[in-house]
Amino acid sequence: MDLSNVKIGFALTGSFCTIPEVIPQLELIVHAGAKVIPIMSEIVYKTDTRFGKALELIWRVEDITGGKIIHTISDAEPIGPKRMLDILVVAPCTGNTLSKLANGINDSTVTMATKAHLRNLKPVVIAVSTNDGLGANAKNLALLHASKNIYLVPYRQDDHDKKPNSLVAKIDLLIPALSAALLGEQLQPVLI
Ligand SMILES: Cc1cc2nc3c(=O)[nH]c(=O)nc-3n(C[C@H](O)[C@H](O)[C@H](O)COP(=O)(O)O)c2cc1C
Repeated sequence: MDLSNVKIGFALTGSFCTIPEVIPQLELIVHAGAKVIPIMSEIVYKTDTRFGKALELIWRVEDITGGKIIHTISDAEPIGPKRMLDILVVAPCTGNTLSKLANGINDSTVTMATKAHLRNLKPVVIAVSTNDGLGANAKNLALLHASKNIYLVPYRQDDHDKKPNSLVAKIDLLIPALSAALLGEQLQPVLI
């Protein structure tokens, strides 16, 4: 896929176990020629977990993209008025961010980036990763499916025995989903 001259916002939220799987997709997008603006939720920008240290992730992402990470609401707000992006990716997308996006709540860097970008009627691609995707967040996921300019990376249950409500995007379908969204289409099948 040639993504030359495509301006992509890439927003990471706090599904920390999924972030290591998402980073290679970010690298592929950059190698495909896209101009990527990196974005992180506040918690990703500042939190060390057993999956990695915040500072190491920041360095890695800034090294891959060659840009400074947007990690505050005030720095995310110009994304709309300055028409900074052709498309915005939220990967991984937590249940927390998913629920806010579905209900018009804007109190974080990633929700601000999304709201600002959507004001220009441009596409957003969401790669869900949440243990309550078939629980408390099922209704929010349904709302996003029915929302204009929102596209989902195809997803599945990741452990139906131990976590029956858990959903996770098939992350190697991120670029195909992004390519389809640039054409105004939802990659199918969305349930895998
Ligand atoms: C180690 C760790 C792993 C987490 N994994 C997930 C996850 O996979 N999915 C999810 O929805 N939340 C997960 N969370 C919870 C979110 O980080 C938390 O809801 C946070 O408020 C999300 O903020 P954000 O959506 O602005 O990034 C995890 C938290 C920790 C500390």
